[in-house]
Amino acid sequence: MIRFERVTKRYADGTLAVDDLSLECADGEITVLVGTSGCGKTTSLRMINRLVDPTSGTIRVAGKDVTKSDPAELRRTMGYVIQQGGLFPHRTVIDNIAPVPRLLGASRAKARGRAYEMLTLVGLSEPMGKRYPYQLSGGQQQRVGVARALAADPPVLLMDEPFSAVDPVVRSELQQELQRLQAQLHKTIVFVTHDVDEAVKLGDKIAVMQVGGHLVQFDTPERILARPENAFVESFVGTDRGIRWLSFFAAKGLRLHVPATVETTTSAEDARRIAREAGTGWLLALDADRHPLGWLEVATLNGGASIELAGLRSLGHTFKPDDDSLRAALDATVLSPAGVAVAVDDRGVVVGVADHEEVTRAIRAASGRA
Ligand SMILES: Nc1ncnc2c1ncn2[C@@H]1O[C@H](COP(=O)(O)OP(=O)(O)O)[C@@H](O)[C@H]1O
Ligand SMILES: [Mg+2]
Repeated sequence: MIRFERVTKRYADGTLAVDDLSLECADGEITVLVGTSGCGKTTSLRMINRLVDPTSGTIRVAGKDVTKSDPAELRRTMGYVIQQGGLFPHRTVIDNIAPVPRLLGASRAKARGRAYEMLTLVGLSEPMGKRYPYQLSGGQQQRVGVARALAADPPVLLMDEPFSAVDPVVRSELQQELQRLQAQLHKTIVFVTHDVDEAVKLGDKIAVMQVGGHLVQFDTPERILARPENAFVESFVGTDRGIRWLSFFAAKGLRLHVPATVETTTSAEDARRIAREAGTGWLLALDADRHPLGWLEVATLNGGASIELAGLRSLGHTFKPDDDSLRAALDATVLSPAGVAVAVDDRGVVVGVADHEEVTRAIRAASGRA
């Protein structure tokens, strides 16, 4: 466990970067420090591995005051990942990683073996090892940064805005990758970001900080979204915090309905009859394996022997009741032209549908307002 006990940092020029911070980062969990630029996140993180020393107060790792540890030794127990990867530009990927196990006493061959192992762990292929950092995309460079931080197998990982410089799609991939790694490795991670969505997605606990180095709220993501401590946290987490909060409720609680369906071979006449009997203007088109193809708006059918695939409206996206949240289900209803979210199983087979009304009911039930 990493413990901040009334830690204050005032820089030589008088800037108060961190003000009386007390915080506990639990073992095996991701603690996220979040807040706007200049609120003292980086300073807090760098006091853990002694790149900065506190002006007053104590930081303990596993009970031991870090200022009593040798900085080099301390850093061997803590991986450190920064924005832009922090790679040496004139060394190949492997030569960026291998020195870490070398430092710990591994032979040259062992160290390279370990480096390749780490590369695979973070989802990069072996040939990447021979490239130079400039020959990699931003996302790949960040992965190498993570691989290097993990190479010593440190119990602690300090990450300072590691994914902030990459585009949103890659960022989301890297976040998922970190979650996958964490499920496997159970490191004690302190993760700094200015992005609330990232904090909510990754954090077991979130520390919201305010300029001047104040800790405003330290809580689970769910509680930060549901019960912001004050107006600052409320405005910081944004106006759509209610929507984000829904990501903590499983879509499993939805009562799915059986949709009125057609297949590609169904005649237009039959489609009209099916819609009439079901009392709906929209039919879900399925392929022979009951995978959803799209929505058919019955009013647009013109004569025709069978329904026209070209006339189908896109599903938006489907959701999986066993894995996804109410947020995903709500999103699927909003994007669906029929206003109906399509639930599928792991094989992509339709298991039912949920309309706006049902999603609203589930939200009310989940939030205790049923
Ligand atoms: N070496 C330094 N000397 C003086 N002031 C600094 C130094 N490093 C950071 N600061 C100041 O301390 C405050 C907190 O900075 P920082 O910890 O980098 O915040 P964050 O990471 O949240 O953006 C800011 O006002 C910043 O300008
Ligand atoms: Mg910073």
